[in-house]
Amino acid sequence: MSDVDWDGLRDRARALAQVAHAPYSGVRVGAAGLTDDGRVVAGCNVENASSGLGICAEVNLCGHLVAAGGGRIVAVAVVAADGFPLTPCGRCRQVLHEFGGPELLVDRPDGPVRLGVLLPDAFGPDDVRDRAG
Ligand code: THU
Repeated sequence: MSDVDWDGLRDRARALAQVAHAPYSGVRVGAAGLTDDGRVVAGCNVENASSGLGICAEVNLCGHLVAAGGGRIVAVAVVAADGFPLTPCGRCRQVLHEFGGPELLVDRPDGPVRLGVLLPDAFGPDDVRDRAG
C-alpha cells in the first residue's frame, strides 16, 4: 500500500511508547495502526505487578480500535521508546489478525511485510464460523 504514511505511524507509535506502563521489564512499546477508513489508532504496553497479566501495545491498540467503533487495520507500526522497530510477538500477531487479516502490512526495517508472512495459516474468524456446530 503506497499511501501509508509510515513515518507518521512510527512517530505516533513512538509517542505512545513514551507513556507506556512498563516498570517491570523497562521495555516501553508503542503501536500505531491505520484503519481502512483513514483513522489512526494506537496503544502502548501496560504491565502489571502480577507479571503474567501485562498487555502488549498491539493488544491495547486493538482495544482502542474496538472502543472507537471498530473497523479494519491495514497497516501497523510497533516501536520501542527509542524508536527501534519491533516485530509483534506471537500472541499479538494473532490479535492483529482478527482486525487486519493476512493482508495487514506490518512495518519492518527492510520494508513492510504482510501479516500472512509472519503468521502463516492463521486460525481466524472464518475457522470459527465454519467449524461451529
Ligand atoms: N511487548 C509488546 O508490547 N508487544 C510485543 O509485540 C512484544 C512485547 C511488551 C510486553 C512487555 O511489556 C514488554 O514488551 C517486554 O516484553
